[in-house]
Amino acid sequence: MLKRFVGLLLMTSTLTAAGAALAQVASSEALGPDARAKTMVDAMTLDEQIGLLRTQAGFGLLSLGVPLPPSIPQSMRKATPPGALGSAGYVPPVERVGMPAQQMSDASLGVGNLGGFLRRGDEATSLPATLALAATFDPSLALAAGEMLGAEAHAKGFNVQLAGGVNLTREPRNGRNFEYAGEDPLLAGQIVGAQVAGIQNRHVVSTVKHFALNAQETGRFVHDAQLDEAALRESDLLAFEIAIDRGRPGAVMCAYNKINGVYACENPFLLGKVLKGDWKYPGWVMSDWGASHSLAAALKAGLDQESPQDDPYFGGLKAAVASGGVSPERVREAAYRIVRSFYAVGVMDDPAKPGGVIDKDAHAQVAEDVALAGMVLLKNDGVLPLTAIARKIVVIGGFADKGVLSGGGSSQVMPYGGHLLDRRGLEGIAAFLAPVYGLSSPLAALKALRPDADVQFDDGTDVARAAALAKSADVVVVFATRPEEEGMDAIAPDLPYGQDDLIAAVGAANPHTAVVLETGNPILMPWLSKVGAVLQAWYPGQRGGPAIAKLLAGEVAPSGRLPMTFPASVAQSPRPAIPGFDPNNRKPLGLGIKVEPFAVPFPEGADVGYRWFERRKERPLFAFGHGLTYTTFGYAKLMATGGEGVSATFTLTNTGKRAGTEVAQLYVAPPGKTHRLVGWARVALAPGESRQVTIHADPRLLASYDLKAGAWRRAAGRYDLYVGKAAGSRDLVAQASLTEGGR
Ligand code: BGC
Repeated sequence: MLKRFVGLLLMTSTLTAAGAALAQVASSEALGPDARAKTMVDAMTLDEQIGLLRTQAGFGLLSLGVPLPPSIPQSMRKATPPGALGSAGYVPPVERVGMPAQQMSDASLGVGNLGGFLRRGDEATSLPATLALAATFDPSLALAAGEMLGAEAHAKGFNVQLAGGVNLTREPRNGRNFEYAGEDPLLAGQIVGAQVAGIQNRHVVSTVKHFALNAQETGRFVHDAQLDEAALRESDLLAFEIAIDRGRPGAVMCAYNKINGVYACENPFLLGKVLKGDWKYPGWVMSDWGASHSLAAALKAGLDQESPQDDPYFGGLKAAVASGGVSPERVREAAYRIVRSFYAVGVMDDPAKPGGVIDKDAHAQVAEDVALAGMVLLKNDGVLPLTAIARKIVVIGGFADKGVLSGGGSSQVMPYGGHLLDRRGLEGIAAFLAPVYGLSSPLAALKALRPDADVQFDDGTDVARAAALAKSADVVVVFATRPEEEGMDAIAPDLPYGQDDLIAAVGAANPHTAVVLETGNPILMPWLSKVGAVLQAWYPGQRGGPAIAKLLAGEVAPSGRLPMTFPASVAQSPRPAIPGFDPNNRKPLGLGIKVEPFAVPFPEGADVGYRWFERRKERPLFAFGHGLTYTTFGYAKLMATGGEGVSATFTLTNTGKRAGTEVAQLYVAPPGKTHRLVGWARVALAPGESRQVTIHADPRLLASYDLKAGAWRRAAGRYDLYVGKAAGSRDLVAQASLTEGGR
């Protein structure tokens, strides 16, 4: 588009000064994003600048030409706007100055296409849940996943990806945890930051979202998340800060909820003071879809762009400028931030166009690599890997003959290779947005890997029948699934459709039972002692079937580690009951739920997840960082050094008989604080091999936020540290302490 525009300008014999400047910025990357954006925005009229700040819905269900169920709200009964590709958001171009349209699609797990309704028939590579990406503890895989996603978005014509969910897991029943990267600020920030960088490497803008403290879906449009500033800065804001540093996202999406009484999208502390002030964030702030509540106040606080909603506040922008309620400079600045990000990410110089070539095989391989590295072996009494002695293998339940489950909501990807909808017990809009299984069958993949074995399948709908078949097997693999979706939290941390009973009965019939969990959150596992192995497969994406089969059969050894604590009971949680939760008022996407604002307190403060467990001396079912593999590792000779940074050097040995990958984790407790993850190393070792490993602590993690001084400080005193296999595992491995001066 820019080339055509430059051509047009140069052909005009009477070039204006503004036109000449624009032609120069369009073709000169060397000028840099600030100067280029300034020239373009200065050439825009006020109307054109305002036009950039109002997103329209980028799809209309009427364009599908199919009858819509009565439960679809009136606001969604529209045609797709001309020029839009059919996605979450669209902002028309300003062709006169060479500003392309903003084509925004959801992207947590691939190029989104909710229920397949936004672009009929358009499929994309579906990545495993972001939780699986976090469980890899491997930012280089997150970068590769982001680059894959960015390339696909670019080839489909999208130049903004609504990716980068980095809300910490504070509520283990949150229906959207699968889109996020777990409970630890360093891990989540590193993984999501790398994913964002990957997307942007392909010249597509990425967001990070939902800024901030959007920890539950219950009452998601109105709840008031209450946390003091120091704790906020040391936890959820820290995750955003790390992700923004690493990924340099072009946009930040502010959340639906309130923070300490003020909606996130008009929150001067959050947007003005922290993001644009302390962090000097140069990109733009867009609201979540329907998350703005004011015009002048929101703009003043730092919101730059309003997402589609039926009663738009930014519709009054021109009148507000005319009456002096909003300054033209603020409008210009908001437009500038958008244009600047487009230049900074390379959108102008390498515009996305529909119809690009997609290397589907290479992209599927990325999805499989993430699935293989992100599944977590929680328990293994020796049932896995399935050895050659396992001649009769019985596979039960979870649609394992068909495919693998994915998470629901705006992040939904319609995977290449087809899908099926599970409409069991659903009506109305819930049936319209039913859970999606990608057609990647673990059963078929296992049969292909084990042609020597007799592999039989039972769908698990009749518990007695399944248990009887299980009895006759050498090894049983039970697949259990639990859908999660945007807009609602889970009623309880258990398995639906009677699957807990099914597993208990199968485990009682045959202790050589491995359970594969396709879930987006921790569950309680009342049957745990009855089964021999548990593989946490999350939602494993496009190539989930082959990835699960390869791990079960031992072709690849598991290497994922839990990015969130699995509690042993809901009573261990800081909020045993979800604030505002009503089991009878849960709807997909939260559509049509009207509740009064209510408070969500966070007694855990900055001690999210494993740090709360340490503070309360609680034992979880499985700890943050936990994950087994088919070999064992030993730690020895820990040496800790202090000074400017803290680091730990130790010897790691593969003490087993197979090659394997360890994720060695360094935890430090500053004086008077609980331990937190400050660094890790993913180390692959051959059997018997030893290596000296050094982990440097990220210095931000050693400091605390001093509210009075408005600064980060490292306290003087004793720093306890341990290197371990999981949070809380310090008795198993090595620990040390250092006495440090303050900084
Ligand atoms: C979600 C966002 C999403 C947006 C656009 C909202 O409901 O909270 O994560 O990007 O919709 O689909």
